Amino acid sequence: MTNLTKNISAVNTVLRNKYRVLNHINLQKRKVAAVRMLGFDECYAQWPENRQLLTAVMDGSSSVGQAVCEISARNRLDSTKVRELLTGLYTTGLLEFHITDVCDLSCIECHYRAKSLSTFPFDSISTFITALNPKAITITGGGEPSLYNNTHKTMNDVIRLIVETFPNKKIGLINNNTHIPKGDWIDCIQWQRSSLDAANRETYRYIKGVDKYDLTIENIYCLLASNIQFVGVGFLYRNENIEQIPLFLEQWFERYQHMTVYAQAKFNIQFRPISPSIESIADYDLHNDMEVRMYKSVQETTARAHVNVAFDNFLRMQTNFYAISNAKNGSYFLHDQQEFSHCQNALLHRILRSDGTEYPDFLICNQPKMSLGNVLTANNPDDERIRISLNTLFYYFRMSEFCDTAHCRQCWVSQLVEEYSSKDISSLDLPDLAFF
Ligand SMILES: C[S@@+](CC[C@H](N)C(=O)[O-])C[C@H]1O[C@@H](n2cnc3c(N)ncnc32)[C@H](O)[C@@H]1O
Repeated sequence: MTNLTKNISAVNTVLRNKYRVLNHINLQKRKVAAVRMLGFDECYAQWPENRQLLTAVMDGSSSVGQAVCEISARNRLDSTKVRELLTGLYTTGLLEFHITDVCDLSCIECHYRAKSLSTFPFDSISTFITALNPKAITITGGGEPSLYNNTHKTMNDVIRLIVETFPNKKIGLINNNTHIPKGDWIDCIQWQRSSLDAANRETYRYIKGVDKYDLTIENIYCLLASNIQFVGVGFLYRNENIEQIPLFLEQWFERYQHMTVYAQAKFNIQFRPISPSIESIADYDLHNDMEVRMYKSVQETTARAHVNVAFDNFLRMQTNFYAISNAKNGSYFLHDQQEFSHCQNALLHRILRSDGTEYPDFLICNQPKMSLGNVLTANNPDDERIRISLNTLFYYFRMSEFCDTAHCRQCWVSQLVEEYSSKDISSLDLPDLAFF
């Protein structure tokens, strides 16, 4: 049965359903309990010392050994117990795994343009996934995951290794889809999204620096004929492609009508706004009237939908167009500044970069001084995992200069988790896919 006949939009109810973060609520509760046992929360008398300790670990002036000693003494806990609790905090709900920084494109404003071209060592993957123990893994970059090559292992080998070793993990792939690696990885992932971002060759070449538009469309069709449950097309809207949105949607509507029912059921389009770098987010300069131009593009598309029911259905069922056009704060580009008390995202989400550095969020991935740590290069991996856990608390307690609602684009995650952490969520009918 297609999504249309079931009248359920996969893109809105599953892939971009904001409640999907609640799939990780039990992990959040376990972590908050551990944080309390370590004396970090609701203990006002210790709070200045706790701030000092977390700052010292983050800036490298305190070693993990010193921090563990201090926490043990302060809370009258055995240091083995403290290490055990902190090691438990290293795990994550969703892992965004950047398997390589090698890329065949050079997209304007890519967060990773100043990258190192590193590739994550194949032989370390199992150890990392065992320690991080995520429910779901999104394989992406950095660079282009389909170009992964380490000791002659390809992306196919990476995905096969993960599903064979950890059969319960859900796997998604975000890539540019200019190349489809050989192998049966296609049968092992739940969803895939191709970053297309353009409605013609010229704009694609302008944004991405390379002429691979037609090839990408061809490859999207290949994946639509595969066993992947959801095959998406990503459109990161930005100064360079705002005017293309109506054409982009018309083209895909036309293509959609000629797809098999099987392909239609998996096809989706996901719009997202480009993010400026974290330093400029609070005083983001929307150059060239981006909001006004977006408004015109949105109006043009909605006007067409008003007179064409099939197109309107397509927008509702196969795209998240109406979510962007009804932005709560009236802006297409600026995020909704939701209030939250702690950064729950830091407890539930981890980025593992191709050089081994770990971050709580992609927006700070280009800021080495904000990294949580690097187990891959550390002399003592066990201690480094504890250091990473302590640094996630640095973010959990919003101690970084960017941990306010004006900077944080993930504040909705924290707001939602905090709203539901004391409620019964069994009636919410959450999507069965644990990714966000
Ligand atoms: C950096 S790409 C790497 C994976 C793959 N090469 C691709 O093109 O999808 C991963 C995702 O980051 C998104 N991205 C890159 N720069 C961004 C920015 N400035 N703001 C928001 N998303 C961005 C891309 O749209 C893409 O969906």
